[in-house]
Amino acid sequence: MEAPVWERDYRTSSAAQTQDLARALGASLRAGDLLLLTGELGAGKTTFTQGLGEGLGVRPGIISPTFVLVRIHPSLGSGPDLVHVDAYRLESAGEIDDIDLENTMDTSVTVVEWGRGLVEHLSDSRLEITLLRATGGAAGGSGELVTDFSVEDDDEERTIRITGYGPRWESAPLPIP
Ligand SMILES: Nc1ncnc2c1ncn2[C@@H]1O[C@H](COP(=O)(O)OP(=O)(O)OP(=O)(O)O)[C@@H](O)[C@H]1O
Ligand SMILES: [Mg+2]
Repeated sequence: MEAPVWERDYRTSSAAQTQDLARALGASLRAGDLLLLTGELGAGKTTFTQGLGEGLGVRPGIISPTFVLVRIHPSLGSGPDLVHVDAYRLESAGEIDDIDLENTMDTSVTVVEWGRGLVEHLSDSRLEITLLRATGGAAGGSGELVTDFSVEDDDEERTIRITGYGPRWESAPLPIP
């Protein structure tokens, strides 16, 4: 198993803080970078991607795609475009090949929600972003399943683990606080 070259855990307590972290990361990315986002439904993968887009300076409007598997957000300046993929409904690596991400990799930052096990072959380097939610919610702590979806937008704690693989990430993507 390939060893990570860089890993760091961050804590956020709101969607806005998650976007702040992602914005800082986005500002340090460049064309060719590949990011895989992992975390349960509602963990904050799309929220994180919105912050990345701001940091990159691409056209806003990053949403959770329902039927569209891939959206390209063009740069508003001279930086890379953002290619945002949601692989949740993909069944196989074959289907991801149909999207032809190779074609846009070199001029874009490519972000794939649910991409683990599907897109690692696109680059010799990648960042894996894992969003972990505290079970039971910030106030509960009893560990029971969250079933009240009416509170889904309330700000909660997340641990965001950023792990770098490959030569691109031999130095940290973010200054370590
Ligand atoms: N600390 C936090 N970081 C990120 N999102 C948070 C946080 N606290 C609460 N939230 C809320 O959690 C939800 C995350 O939704 P989001 O669509 O980003 O998740 P997702 O991982 O993309 O889900 P899916 O698997 O359905 O694509 C949002 O409603 C957001 O406001
Ligand atoms: Mg999403």
